[in-house]
Amino acid sequence: MLYNSYLDVKNLKVSYGKNLVINDISFAVKKGELLCILGESGCGKTTTLNAIGGFIDIDSGKIFIDDEDISNLPPSDRPTSTVFQSYGLFPNMTVIENVTYGLKIRGINKRMRVEEGKKFLDIVSLSEIADKNVESISGGQKQRVALARALIVNPKVCLLDEPLSNLDFNLRIKMRKEIKSIQEKLNITMVFVTHDIEEAISIADRIMIMHSGKILAIGKPIDIFKNEENEYVKNFLNVSSYKIDENNKFYKIL
Ligand SMILES: Nc1ncnc2c1ncn2[C@@H]1O[C@H](COP(=O)(O)OP(=O)(O)O)[C@@H](O)[C@H]1O
Ligand SMILES: [Mg+2]
Repeated sequence: MLYNSYLDVKNLKVSYGKNLVINDISFAVKKGELLCILGESGCGKTTTLNAIGGFIDIDSGKIFIDDEDISNLPPSDRPTSTVFQSYGLFPNMTVIENVTYGLKIRGINKRMRVEEGKKFLDIVSLSEIADKNVESISGGQKQRVALARALIVNPKVCLLDEPLSNLDFNLRIKMRKEIKSIQEKLNITMVFVTHDIEEAISIADRIMIMHSGKILAIGKPIDIFKNEENEYVKNFLNVSSYKIDENNKFYKIL
């Protein structure tokens, strides 16, 4: 096992019928690290995330979190929470009821739930709309509810599948920064799937580029942009259209 790895995916294979879509991948994520999985549509990002969350059957391989083999646990017994692209909120419930749902099913009493709920609503800046019905709030607010709902149960690893792709451009940029700052503040380990290269560069500690069910590259954005030799990866990332300054800040050259 990799020294101090917290999430450890080993030799994972997943098929749908006869179609092998995750072809023996291994990678590890450290505690408090944000890994972005990047790649074109169909390369296996969602399948990888779903394998970690326990939502699909795997052919072979093992998944460890904090040294525990979780490969055979149902999703509800895994120390993970997932934020889906489509939010997946419970309709006809208020914002705070959605956020505290995970505590309710764990049998936490109402007073504690409300207390924790308020804390997390404050973290995602939704305190003012705690009692609104989730159907009456905006897309950006729904995304924040989904994030707070995932984080309140204190998961060891938070999984996010293209969480910002339903938001308009400006909100997407704003939410990137918010997610990054919450992740750093709470020291959460995150696996964040996106097909948006700039989004990945702006929030990831490391990026992992997939293609046809394989990992082609994994590392710090700066190292991959400077040193990557794989032609597919360089092309996919459009490496030549970025400049990196002495502070390791990326600039897109138009
Ligand atoms: N439920 C499914 N049944 C059959 N094939 C699937 C299913 N989900 C995904 N696939 C196929 O598996 C491959 C990987 O899909 P996916 O993990 O969703 O990719 P990504 O999230 O990177 O777009 C694709 O070829 C896709 O068509
Ligand atoms: Mg996907």
